[in-house]
Amino acid sequence: MDIDIVSVFPEYFDVLNLSLFGKAMERGLVTVRAHNLRDWTHDVHQSVDDTPVGGGAGMVMKPEVWAECLDELLGIPADAPANTDADTTTAPDAPVLIFPNPSAPLFTQQDATELSHAGHLVFGCGRYEGYDARIPQYYRARGVDVREYSIGDYVLNGGEVAVSVMLEAITRLLPGFMGNAASIVEESYTGANALLEHSQYTKPATWRGMAVPPVLISGDHGKVDRFRRDEALEKTSRLRPDLIAHLDCAALDKADRKTLIALGWEVSGAHPRKLG
Ligand code: ADE
Repeated sequence: MDIDIVSVFPEYFDVLNLSLFGKAMERGLVTVRAHNLRDWTHDVHQSVDDTPVGGGAGMVMKPEVWAECLDELLGIPADAPANTDADTTTAPDAPVLIFPNPSAPLFTQQDATELSHAGHLVFGCGRYEGYDARIPQYYRARGVDVREYSIGDYVLNGGEVAVSVMLEAITRLLPGFMGNAASIVEESYTGANALLEHSQYTKPATWRGMAVPPVLISGDHGKVDRFRRDEALEKTSRLRPDLIAHLDCAALDKADRKTLIALGWEVSGAHPRKLG
């Protein structure tokens, strides 16, 4: 996977040399190029922002600088006409252009999974009050697959942290990135019937007077699986009832239904419904 990141603080991404990501780069699984947006400026101050049209506080990132940079990274000629047919987005290695934005839909595990199949990702990190809204519009009109995502309902100073978060969520799904592929399959938010993951324990079986749930050392795999599934259902019901409400009732087994009913859910419709 080829990854280009554009930022006014490209050094921020030096951290990617560490840990599993660094190893994946060494092995050629991912190639990351962090670019300084100011390299595409022409004025002596290397300015990338201007005051908001219509008034308001802060500064907005200018479209001209971004466009020179993105034309180059996406391989789009500056005078490319707008096209409404989506041919370019369906090419197997067509780049996906991603802007973190606190006013965009939430980035989910499903987005991470989908983007892990792309061959080339280009991330644009906004700063200040964000970027001129015409930038994503312009590239969308030229057939580029443009995504804008928020990583949560809070405001950061810029897109760099959000890009790191998305990058980690996406690249760890690449075949060969993680040591143990099975650990990905069992995780929270994975699959159509996403639940929070059950709690994990390691040895010793008793630590500072606290014992692990005895069933986990019973050696009965069926009972262990059921215990974990029930714990995941209970935990999700308590902490993220919205996830339970999205479950597909047809995909629940008899024991799941029994557990959910005991937790106060009605499971006879398409999705569980909280009673009371
Ligand atoms: N930029 C600033 N805040 C952000 C957020 N919550 N998600 C994505 N990008 C952002």
